[in-house]
Amino acid sequence: MTTFRSIEWKNNELRLIDQRKLPKETVYLEFTDYHQVAEAIKSMIVRGAPAIGTAAAFGLALACNQSTATDIESMKKDLSEAAQVLRASRPTAVNLFWAIDRVLRKVELEKPMDTQTLRRIVINEAHAIAEEDIHSNKQIGYNAFPLIPDPAKILHHCNTGSLATVDYGTALGIIRIAHEKGKRVHAYLDETRPRLQGARLSAWELNQLGIPHTVIVDGASGYLMKKVGIDLCVVGADRIAANGDTANKIGTYNLAIVAKEHGVPFYVAAPTSTVDLSIPNGEYIPIEERHPEEITFVGSEQVVPDGSPVLNYAFDVTPAKYITAIITEVGIAYPPFEESLAALMKKAHEGVAR
Ligand code: MRU
Repeated sequence: MTTFRSIEWKNNELRLIDQRKLPKETVYLEFTDYHQVAEAIKSMIVRGAPAIGTAAAFGLALACNQSTATDIESMKKDLSEAAQVLRASRPTAVNLFWAIDRVLRKVELEKPMDTQTLRRIVINEAHAIAEEDIHSNKQIGYNAFPLIPDPAKILHHCNTGSLATVDYGTALGIIRIAHEKGKRVHAYLDETRPRLQGARLSAWELNQLGIPHTVIVDGASGYLMKKVGIDLCVVGADRIAANGDTANKIGTYNLAIVAKEHGVPFYVAAPTSTVDLSIPNGEYIPIEERHPEEITFVGSEQVVPDGSPVLNYAFDVTPAKYITAIITEVGIAYPPFEESLAALMKKAHEGVAR
């Protein structure tokens, strides 16, 4: 059972687990100001594409609570300012923009006549996004179930579990559901330099769930495939272009190439909110570059000499040709992804419209 919640809305406050402090300390932080939520996304107190999107939606709810506007147009203006601040927090995960757009679209659709109603619509939509995320994650796990052999050695990158989502997780959720349904899975967790989401967060989650796992350094994946034999790789995604090119945590691209070389299936797991059909391919995905200190320091110790430049790409793009399938809550897309993803997105939209 998951004993924690990455994101919670309680008494008109947003409560986030401080992911920077794990696994050493479990600290929850309360937010009443959307500016602080944008900072929390930037500083990775909250991280992982679906979690960022949901946090931003609740950030908009806070903006409504903070607003002193007495008329609807002024409150809408405050809301759109908040949307701008939240949008500027991190560029790669499309779920951030998707969630903000979805809340704003709902407001336009419902046409509230007073500020109280507008506030209620925004808060309700943020809750709906959170609830749907949990449902989608579980469905991703069920959809993937037939693809997981028993027993299975599964290689995973970064953290895609309950911490990176509202609950359950995408790629890690697949491993969790396979385990819960009795398959003998063993997860090999890339530590995921430089922020160590695999070592710190995924291992913390799997420990609590009693799921067998082993942490490896990112560079070990090739040798591990040769030596131990890996049945499949499964990773999450921050943005999937119309042709299937997938942005995910830095190192995913290398892992996909190594998997191809060893004939290991390489799966991407993500909700349809991560699919961005507005861009034809991965060339159009904005890739975040983060502070050099994430690389030059390990904890408080400097490990790169002064004067040596570093380049800190937070994400990379895995070309679609390395991806065996993309597993979503509405089904599994196989190559050619232009067609299969478009069909799944149509199905997802029809589901929403129903
Ligand atoms: O920089 P992060 O930790 O936010 O990056 C997270 C990832 O790359 C995850 O794999 C992705 O967001 C999917 S989380 C379900």
